[in-house]
Amino acid sequence: MIDRWLRADTIGCRIGEGSQVRLIAMNAQARHTTVPGRWEGAVKNYEPVMSFGEDAAKRYDNVERGDEVEAVAWLEQMAKGGPALELAIGTGRIALPLAARGIRVDGIDLSTAMVAQLSTKPGGADIDVTMGDFADVAVPGKYRLIYVVFNTLFNLLTQDEQVRCFENVADHLTDDGVFVVEAYVPAFLHRLRDNQYVEAEAIEVGEVKLDVLRHDMSTQIIEESHVSLSPAGVRMNPIVQRYAWPAELDLMARIAGLRLKERWAGWNRGPFTSDSDNLVSVYGR
Ligand SMILES: C[S@@+](CC[C@H](N)C(=O)[O-])C[C@H]1O[C@@H](n2cnc3c(N)ncnc32)[C@H](O)[C@@H]1O
Repeated sequence: MIDRWLRADTIGCRIGEGSQVRLIAMNAQARHTTVPGRWEGAVKNYEPVMSFGEDAAKRYDNVERGDEVEAVAWLEQMAKGGPALELAIGTGRIALPLAARGIRVDGIDLSTAMVAQLSTKPGGADIDVTMGDFADVAVPGKYRLIYVVFNTLFNLLTQDEQVRCFENVADHLTDDGVFVVEAYVPAFLHRLRDNQYVEAEAIEVGEVKLDVLRHDMSTQIIEESHVSLSPAGVRMNPIVQRYAWPAELDLMARIAGLRLKERWAGWNRGPFTSDSDNLVSVYGR
């Protein structure tokens, strides 16, 4: 048994949020091969859209992350009247309240199930969503604000895809536009034993929920599944992410012709330090 700081949630993008939990380390099993530009993970046949199918989309808004009000106020300031583009807009958790403040918000996502949830909400029909991979940013026009929140940049599973995303974002920013990235800082990985853990997320009379995670340093890949065991059966929620350290993100921005303008520890503009679990980075020209 080891103690470390990590809160995992019903959807794996919540990797890295902090509250103390007790974890059980298990023996490492699989190892990955490093193939430049390709993700070769142990979760065979995984596709990112599998993490955001019908079931996950229906449950997505059941638990609030809790940063919505602060995030939207912050993004509204950054948008300077807009327009704004959310990469991986999902169910509109951030986009809808931002649009309600008078900012035009467009979105990109690859999950029809997530976007279907968005479109049924008040204001959802007014949001223009392009279905596709946000690494491509395949939308017309330029934006004063492009943002990707909730660790979702890391859902692009190779460095190549993440760089491509930065480059395409740069092409769609106005001259004074900014790209905002909100994500976890992967420092918690240093505290893992054997690069993996199993956490008891909930133990109830009729259901047990486990969070199972494995890390591969050579690929910077985290493979995770939230597993529910109950008389109704077994439900799996796999998610795979490729994390990047802050300095790597800054270098990706430089490759794309952008530079870091601001970095904060969160939406409250706390100072970013070596203890920060989260970052909000602002890139521009
Ligand atoms: C955790 S949700 C975040 C949704 C929303 N941004 C939020 O903060 O609530 C991640 C979203 O990213 C989308 N997604 C993941 N990888 C993607 C990709 N490569 N291209 C487009 N959307 C992607 C998923 O479909 C899902 O809607």
